[in-house]
Amino acid sequence: MLTWDDEPTIPTPKPAAPQAPRSAAHAAIVMGTVADTHPSPVPPIPAAGDFKLTTTQAHVEAGATGLEDLQMGARRIQVDDKKIINCRADLNQLVPFKYEWAWKKYLDACNNHWMPQEINMSADIALWQDPNGLTEDERMIIKRSLGFFSTADSLVANNLVLAVYRHLTNPECRQYLLRQAFEEAIHTHAYQYCIESLGLDEAEVFNMYREVPSIHDKAAWALPYTQSLADQEFHTGTPETDQRFLRDMIAFYVVFEGIFFYVGFVQLLSFGRRNKMVGVSEQIQYIMRDEAMHMNFGIDVINQIKVENPHLWTAEFQAEALEMIREATELEIRYAHDTMPRGVLGLNASMFNEYMKFIANRRCSQIGLKPLYPTATENPFPWMSEVLDLKKEKNFFETRVTEYQTGGALSWD
Ligand SMILES: [Fe+2]
Ligand SMILES: [Fe+2]
Repeated sequence: MLTWDDEPTIPTPKPAAPQAPRSAAHAAIVMGTVADTHPSPVPPIPAAGDFKLTTTQAHVEAGATGLEDLQMGARRIQVDDKKIINCRADLNQLVPFKYEWAWKKYLDACNNHWMPQEINMSADIALWQDPNGLTEDERMIIKRSLGFFSTADSLVANNLVLAVYRHLTNPECRQYLLRQAFEEAIHTHAYQYCIESLGLDEAEVFNMYREVPSIHDKAAWALPYTQSLADQEFHTGTPETDQRFLRDMIAFYVVFEGIFFYVGFVQLLSFGRRNKMVGVSEQIQYIMRDEAMHMNFGIDVINQIKVENPHLWTAEFQAEALEMIREATELEIRYAHDTMPRGVLGLNASMFNEYMKFIANRRCSQIGLKPLYPTATENPFPWMSEVLDLKKEKNFFETRVTEYQTGGALSWD
């Protein structure tokens, strides 16, 4: 139970012991009877509304807050002042809303709040510890999936707060990004919770992106698209830099969250469909629901950037985006083969050739590109589309353990 008087986890340092006076004059200063011989000048208090920024803010990056100066009586922010990138208006005013979809996604995401500890893992622990509970192939899928996801979500979160947030110059979108950042922390928490519950070798799992080629290749593919964004010298504002930002948004929202998670999602949900590893499977259901919304938010942002900046969406740029999606699809198919050398759980690697091409086509159409694989029109996992395609953002799961209560953790006495 929290109270307002909880001790801080890291204790504040104790104040320094009083100095012994070095002389009578010093003693007077220490005791506070004589003013310091070098007093700081005290500026006069400005009248209300007259406070001026004392340092030039010209070096402040436009887009960081949109607030380079704070003028009394300045014109109020209008909807038309707002822009998704390169906005020069004050970014500290949530309303008036321009992008209602971003605010709605923020509200829906809050309604979907969940925590990993709500999910009972005891059946998973018993099954994992039973030497005959799972085959070696099944165990490898669990470990590889946790290995990929546990670090991938941290990469997404870092990209979000260190890069995307700076360049997306709209308060309602930033409100959603703050919520998404917390959800990515919950996902990393969930993977750690699974790894800890099953007693897996944490060093092995958390280092798979360095040690398992098909996992390494996916992380390595994404890395350049976050390194350029996190460069403090990087600013949007020219066609070249705006295209670079758009490219990085496609890499993270369309490819990373929209393609690279999907073999793992199908594999882990397939356990639950066979009544195995039901706790892990349920964690993944919640995560997939969040991820679908992240991806849809990113796609809305990408399309809004296109609407406001049609000159960025050149034929060359579209060809480049298609090539990114093609590379990613091939990497994800390779990951499927690597994690499933034999058929398991009613799945086999070749089913994922078709599935990932189907998903790639869908991602292309979501951002206005022609399908990459015109013949891949069938979804071999229709049950996944039931989960993903239907708009069941509320009351989606029936097994929720806890009802949330606003303010329920605070005690007033
Ligand atoms: Fe995530
Ligand atoms: Fe995400």
